[in-house]
Amino acid sequence: MPKVTFVKEKKEVEVPVGANLRLEALKAGVSVYPPLNHYLNCMGFGLCGTCRVLVKKGMENLNAKTLMERVNLNAHPLTMLAVIGHENEMRLSCQVQVNGDCSIETKPAFNLNGENFWQKPYPNK
Ligand code: FES
Repeated sequence: MPKVTFVKEKKEVEVPVGANLRLEALKAGVSVYPPLNHYLNCMGFGLCGTCRVLVKKGMENLNAKTLMERVNLNAHPLTMLAVIGHENEMRLSCQVQVNGDCSIETKPAFNLNGENFWQKPYPNK
């Protein structure tokens, strides 16, 4: 059985092959939604974009992005902004099928400038 590690919550759960990430997270008591959206969401239809997560490890063990997910990540006004800087690791948990081990970061922060170059220490210090 694949293992899903929720990085922020420090929780590891075993899920059946092909399980839906959003449902397994909710079963394990891990919320994929920011507080306001816990009740205001599309219930897993891939419309609202509030269930977005970052896949830190194991992207190859998940299904390919669904059409609904690609449309949402590229065209939904809020989700489009959230994707900046996380282009290769952001997924909508309601559209993710788990086929192997993976590490997931829930409720990712916005990173509107891509890489935060101003936060890096000076090169000579
Ligand atoms: S729950 Fe709305 S997009 Fe996933």
